[in-house]
Amino acid sequence: MKNRKKRKLKIKNIIIVLIVFLTLGLTMQAIVKSNPKKQKEEKNEVKTKKKALTEQEEKYKELNNINKKLDYFKDDYLERYLKYKKNNQNLTDEQIIKNVNMNLDLEKYEQKQPAKYLNTEKILVNKYYYLEPDYVPENLEPIDSQYANSNMKMVKIAKEAFEKLATAAKKENLNIIAMSTYRSYDYQTKLYDRYVQQDGKENADTYSGRPGHSEHQTGLAADVYNKIEPYTNFEKTKEFEWMQEHAHEYGFILRFPKDKVDETGYQFESWHYRYVGLETAKYIKEQNISFEEYYATIIDK
Ligand code: DAL
Ligand code: ZN
Repeated sequence: MKNRKKRKLKIKNIIIVLIVFLTLGLTMQAIVKSNPKKQKEEKNEVKTKKKALTEQEEKYKELNNINKKLDYFKDDYLERYLKYKKNNQNLTDEQIIKNVNMNLDLEKYEQKQPAKYLNTEKILVNKYYYLEPDYVPENLEPIDSQYANSNMKMVKIAKEAFEKLATAAKKENLNIIAMSTYRSYDYQTKLYDRYVQQDGKENADTYSGRPGHSEHQTGLAADVYNKIEPYTNFEKTKEFEWMQEHAHEYGFILRFPKDKVDETGYQFESWHYRYVGLETAKYIKEQNISFEEYYATIIDK
């Protein structure tokens, strides 16, 4: 009897405690809800978020929602895309995204950044990406003297590919000879300064990299000739024809083609080849794109 009473009391106490907690909870909620300041703040926050979202959506809409179609669309570049579109209304949205990714909306040499992917075949050095004066690529090796002027070095993987290429050409009685390959920052400075003196800065910039901006400093580029014609006539040689057909089979691309001057920033150079690796070289040739476009849409996205 006594025990039953005790149990009843216990249950009663538990129920009381529960009711107290429940009431407390409900009251707190009511207080929070009825706090007009907090309520307003919360509402404003939601409003601002919604507004930002609609503004962003409006911007995407201005680009016809191309962000959903292109995997190289960069949200960080949204404002740049819009500005570029305003100034280039004749271009398609896809071209706008590509061009901005290639930095064509920026000032050459002024709005530049350090080159990325150092010591790899992905590296891009041009008028927007530069190398520091002390950058010397790893694994530089001299090219077999049969296929090069004296002391021509390239990065090992490129050197080996170049020797294979030159050997294959030789089998068809064609001479592909490297005449300028790796160039240090200091050497490029001397070269560029000489060109500027000879031709003026504006002209020199169409065919010579400023110090730190030459691909030759990567150790992945080679200027070639056939030993007979000066390199500037390479376009007219059988060796050039052979290179057009076969360079990609060894991982090389013609780096400054005639129809890509606006993208590369340099005039046509029939003699300048760049090692990018087999797969990339094949793709670039098949798609007829510049290395800048490949970098902007495939490598650096
Ligand atoms: N001639 C090429 C553009 C260079 O100087 O790197
Ligand atoms: Zn060159």
